[in-house]
Amino acid sequence: MHQPTSSISPRTDARILEQTSPPTRKMNKTQAIHGLLEYLEGKEYFFLTPTPETHALVDQKLRKNDDVTAKCLTDVFGWSMEFEMPLEDFPESLLLKLRDENLIQKKAENRYWSTIRVSTLYPPGPYLPSSSALPRNLYTHSAFPTHDQSAVFFGPDTYRFLRFMTQAYKHFGHLLPKDPIPQAADVGTGGGAGAIHLRHLLGRYARVYGLDLSPKAIELAGINARYIFPLNTTGPAPPDFAESDILSGLPRPYPPSHPNFVPGVDREHDPGLDLLVCNPPYIASATQTYAAGGTAKSGLDLPLRILAEALGEKGVRVGGMVWFYTGVPVPIRGRRKDMFYEEVEIMTADGEGGKGYKWEVLEYDVMDVDIFGCEMETHEGPYKGIGRIQAIGCVLQKVEV
Ligand SMILES: C[S@@+](CC[C@H](N)C(=O)[O-])C[C@H]1O[C@@H](n2cnc3c(N)ncnc32)[C@H](O)[C@@H]1O
Repeated sequence: MHQPTSSISPRTDARILEQTSPPTRKMNKTQAIHGLLEYLEGKEYFFLTPTPETHALVDQKLRKNDDVTAKCLTDVFGWSMEFEMPLEDFPESLLLKLRDENLIQKKAENRYWSTIRVSTLYPPGPYLPSSSALPRNLYTHSAFPTHDQSAVFFGPDTYRFLRFMTQAYKHFGHLLPKDPIPQAADVGTGGGAGAIHLRHLLGRYARVYGLDLSPKAIELAGINARYIFPLNTTGPAPPDFAESDILSGLPRPYPPSHPNFVPGVDREHDPGLDLLVCNPPYIASATQTYAAGGTAKSGLDLPLRILAEALGEKGVRVGGMVWFYTGVPVPIRGRRKDMFYEEVEIMTADGEGGKGYKWEVLEYDVMDVDIFGCEMETHEGPYKGIGRIQAIGCVLQKVEV
């Protein structure tokens, strides 16, 4: 069982920090990234991450006239361009700290490249129920291009996922328990966006976990979350993050003997999660590393495996919910119900006889009818016969019968 990267009691103002302090290397990396984010926040840095296809086209535009040197901070930390010093008033000391952690690489004499990108987490708009301005709104993820399999993903899909969660919270948040506090997990958290958003939505009185197969993602998620929710303030604590194959590494609630156990807040028995949210990998080409095979439907293997665990005995408790975001391939002559919906119907069909619960689909929202259109480019391969990929948001509840 993996332990969470931080363990904070949500109801106590005096925070109980992890007993063992993180290794110095991790601290240095955290400090270097937080230093960068604070500096960029001070410069009112703003960058919304486009799709990789758009990024590649913009890259070509920027490289026109062979001018491949960054002109500003956005070129460096948004468009992943090489840069030279001095760059605006970017401090030499910060450059050195980032270089020490390999977050900035030296490419040639006085020529550098950032291995991370910095993006605005929440674009303007109704992402959060409260309209109060966020003091910290920057987020770190992998530089472009993200060919490396361990790259930490962030992009338009994440923005849609967060919007879907806000919408689900507005419609169904009242179904979450108030006492004892909700236990929620973001499966496939990547850089932690979903878990961070859950913490914003649910407030401090919730246990929030971010889970991912990738250790690199878990490390970055912890750093991102501790930037958005600094430990030395009275605001909500950052979520806990753990390496996990779907739910296998989900940290169990603190037992009554644990110093972080808060009587009346933590449960003495573990009834499972109250909420599971997920934005899994679903592009067939990208998911081939996770699932064998190469049909469009194989892109749904992992989303369906995650959904099956969420709906299974070790997933969500009776009364709890699943907020699932994914992309679904639709055949050229597709019909009203998509492949994912058909699978959801099979998985939630009655016949749970004697179990005392059933699953109900509370909402199935086609959020965008056409995403990743570039996947339609080839006439062979996984998307042969597919006309488009649609983004859907599905809300399910496990109800008592
Ligand atoms: C499409 S990315 C989404 C990241 C993040 N949720 C977001 O919206 O920005 C999917 C993530 O799922 C993770 N993943 C893949 N297989 C997994 C598994 N079996 N268990 C947990 N996470 C997994 C990947 O490492 C990746 O970070």
